[in-house]
Amino acid sequence: MESLPADGSRLPGWYKVSRKERIARIAERLGLAVEEVAAAVEGGGLSPDDADRMVEDVLGTYGLPFAVAPNFQINGRDVLVPMVIEEPSVVAAAANAARMVRDGGGFRVHTDPPHMVCQVQVFARDREAATARILAAKADLLARAAGVDPVLARLGGGPVDLEVRAIDGGPEGDGFLVVHLVVDVRDAMGANTVNTMGEAIAPVLEGLAGAPTGLRILSNLADRRKVRVEATVPLQSLRMEGFEAAQVRDGIVSASRFAELDPYRAATHNKGILNGTDAVILATGNDWRAVEAGAHAYAALGGRYRPLCTWRRQGDDLAGSLEMPMAVGIVGGATRVHPGARLALRIMEARSAADLASVAASAGMANNLAALKALATEGIQKGHMRLHARSRSLER
Ligand code: MEV
Repeated sequence: MESLPADGSRLPGWYKVSRKERIARIAERLGLAVEEVAAAVEGGGLSPDDADRMVEDVLGTYGLPFAVAPNFQINGRDVLVPMVIEEPSVVAAAANAARMVRDGGGFRVHTDPPHMVCQVQVFARDREAATARILAAKADLLARAAGVDPVLARLGGGPVDLEVRAIDGGPEGDGFLVVHLVVDVRDAMGANTVNTMGEAIAPVLEGLAGAPTGLRILSNLADRRKVRVEATVPLQSLRMEGFEAAQVRDGIVSASRFAELDPYRAATHNKGILNGTDAVILATGNDWRAVEAGAHAYAALGGRYRPLCTWRRQGDDLAGSLEMPMAVGIVGGATRVHPGARLALRIMEARSAADLASVAASAGMANNLAALKALATEGIQKGHMRLHARSRSLER
């Protein structure tokens, strides 16, 4: 293997070196002891006693492969991408696709502000009058919610808006109101914070509406906290044995259109995106069910299930575009408790929740590109299994 640069993510031959060697290289790069890195990734990283404190009725822990994919460049920064996943070939495919995107300048990512919504259901009879009273008290309600989390306020976050939606129908057919409290949760995923704020304002809403409240819980359709990724793959980077580069490009565009036209295909297309995204989310101890729920709800938002990532021809090259909600955090929950999660955040050098969202979404796009390329050419079994077999045979 060529010498590992101190900060680059191009690691030629990374898949050829032994697992111990990879641990040593990561430790060297992060300035950590080899034993420290090994302890965080071997045996699942988490001690049974820590697991016992994390959730209930624990017997022990459950291990999954912890890998690091090279080649990613995101907004001009070289990034090593930690991935936790049980499926063979996903990591190799991500690395492969990241290299193609790198040839076109890397992933270009934009993240929305970290705004999460807490829903409070209000069973108001006179919905119009209740809406007017709630909106008139907006400043008080925001202040009441802000008081719940002074630390968040000191960090520049806190409630930023409050909206009221009328929902028709319901058990008695007369509908209800839903108050959306919008909160800037900074670098947290934010579930606990917004749920606590929702519960804090519920009694005030009951007074204003003269009616009981119902559910008080965040919405996992985090469509105010989206991440957008753009990428360009130069034509020559699509060249592969037995296929013209233009044939590969057009095949990927055609596969994208298939997903845009058919929800049955879109579901599988999005599953391929989530192969990469979930692996990063899981590696960092984040709530991957929340990301999945947001992704699928967003994909179906227009009334028809759509692909989260699409591909088009741009001149001679291939251009990809991905958009999805990404409610993730780098503080709170398991992110700071699980040694493997802490290491994953250090490896990718995530300094904010937005950094983590950018990496997770880029990994999703990479896996989508790799899957479509294989599907449009030699077929997934041959294509992906070849990648997996290559790293297996050479490592021993
Ligand atoms: C397999 O885990 C994912 C794929 O099915 C994705 C796709 O079909 O686009 C290969």
